[in-house]
Amino acid sequence: MSDFLNAPETPHPPGAPVRHPRAKGTPRFPDGPQADPAGSHFERRIRSFQPRRSRVTAGQADALQRLWPAWGLDIDGQHVIDLTELFGNDRPVVLEIGFGMGEATARMAAADPDTNILAVDVHTPGQGNLLNLAEREGLRNVRVGNGDAIILLREMLTPDSLGGLRVYFPDPWPKKRHHKRRLIQPEFLALAATRLGPGALVHCATDWEPYAEQMLEVLTAHPAFENTQADGGFAPRPEFRPLTRFEAQGLEKGHVVNDLLFRRVEHLMEHHAEHRVEHQDQPPTGA
Ligand SMILES: C[S@@+](CC[C@H](N)C(=O)[O-])C[C@H]1O[C@@H](n2cnc3c(N)ncnc32)[C@H](O)[C@@H]1O
Repeated sequence: MSDFLNAPETPHPPGAPVRHPRAKGTPRFPDGPQADPAGSHFERRIRSFQPRRSRVTAGQADALQRLWPAWGLDIDGQHVIDLTELFGNDRPVVLEIGFGMGEATARMAAADPDTNILAVDVHTPGQGNLLNLAEREGLRNVRVGNGDAIILLREMLTPDSLGGLRVYFPDPWPKKRHHKRRLIQPEFLALAATRLGPGALVHCATDWEPYAEQMLEVLTAHPAFENTQADGGFAPRPEFRPLTRFEAQGLEKGHVVNDLLFRRVEHLMEHHAEHRVEHQDQPPTGA
């Protein structure tokens, strides 16, 4: 397989950031992602990411414009997604939250063409990079979502629609006052449990040990999930998960990496099967 580390650039100065002179209010990429990645058009609440305006390279900008119509998905919270239509087949769909620059996502998609990957992030340069990788490798089983995975799960995915969930190196939010921003929490798991089908694999990894302990605690405590490890602990990194960019940085700093592999149980108890999708013609504006 070819080197995934960097997607090819178009013939502009390599890595050069691109400025887009445009009138106020006009979209940054007219044919590219439309939804405000922070989802602030939809609602306001504590988020697991820091909305930021990132510089994109010429190659990423080109990909966002050219490839978004084929590979992109705007997470606008305003419509329910038919995953069979989105991927053009009814193979299982795994949701990856926070793909970063997308190298690991592209590798996993290439290695397993029978699994569809719905890869979601708010990071525009990463979206451009993953689009370029998808085109270069001819990946038909990847879609690139722009926006907050919570809005996607809650508003746009139907119950039992996912065959798996991957959360690799989510932002660790190490400061105590920021712990509430961590993604893997009981409320998130309660929502995810309703969108995952019976037997779906939940795979998390982190290089931040206190967060790994928190993940283990909340996943173990949630009745919708069971640990695949007989000893009830962390899992060895499965071969199908490549090293990620963020992981490599953590390892350089001497961090310990932990994987967690849980399964959604066969039957959800009644009171955990809430969070039904109700399509809203008029989504709420910021609260
Ligand atoms: C620390 S990076 C890890 C990236 C990649 N998985 C890796 O290991 O290199 C975490 C990523 O999760 C994204 N993220 C955090 N919360 C998210 C959310 N609610 N929806 C979508 N993406 C999110 C961030 O934008 C960021 O790119």
